[in-house]
Amino acid sequence: MDVAEAVATRRSIRAFTEQPVETETLLSVLEAARMAPSGCNYQPWEATVLTGAPLKALQDVLLASKPDDPLEYDFSAPGQVDKYKQRLSTLGAQMYGAMTIGREDVDQRNLFSQQNLTSFGAPVLLLSHFPKLMKEPQWSDVGMWLQTIMLLLRGEGLDSCPQEWMGVYGRTIKAHLGLSDDTLLFCGLAIGYRDPDAPVNNFERERVPLDDQVRLLGF
Ligand SMILES: Cc1cc2nc3c(=O)[nH]c(=O)nc-3n(C[C@H](O)[C@H](O)[C@H](O)COP(=O)(O)O)c2cc1C
Repeated sequence: MDVAEAVATRRSIRAFTEQPVETETLLSVLEAARMAPSGCNYQPWEATVLTGAPLKALQDVLLASKPDDPLEYDFSAPGQVDKYKQRLSTLGAQMYGAMTIGREDVDQRNLFSQQNLTSFGAPVLLLSHFPKLMKEPQWSDVGMWLQTIMLLLRGEGLDSCPQEWMGVYGRTIKAHLGLSDDTLLFCGLAIGYRDPDAPVNNFERERVPLDDQVRLLGF
């Protein structure tokens, strides 16, 4: 698979099959992703990767827990601005629409959201974290590392779903994993094989036209 195909076929998968992920494949992806770029070459990313019994134990804890109050960071903050609120609401309409869950069906929507806690049935969960001293530039480095992993996974026929939802339970997760409170739990990455027939894996995803995103000068 070339890079363009990996980019084109990556999507956030929210229904995984039970097929396990080969440890060797996963390690080769993580090994290759070490070459992701980072400002000052700080390589700020750190992660804990779970499968099997340790993953199940964490999920049991999450299912019995409440979201952090207050949150360590609020991933939904830009949604107060109309333009971004609209994009989120379009995503909701398309995703829940694919599952025939109506706008007013708050219970079903919440129930589906709760599946974040079990990573939509993915057999592997990578939790990315880093020292709290890392600022915005380093957060973006971690994003690049995660995207590098996601594309390399595609190259191996694997799928993923990034999950900032995990950050909502950051303190619980850190306590369970024995991570220091100087650490920020940033984002999960559910890893496994997609269920190709699940409607939630097949809806159209909207994107802003290029002209609205990029200014070309001098071309
Ligand atoms: C950093 C990051 C965190 C995300 N967190 C979640 C999440 O917690 N739960 C979820 O279902 N999707 C999550 N997503 C997936 C986005 O909703 C998705 O990337 C976006 O709607 C575009 O769709 P696509 O990834 O299928 O192209 C996250 C994506 C990113 C990049």
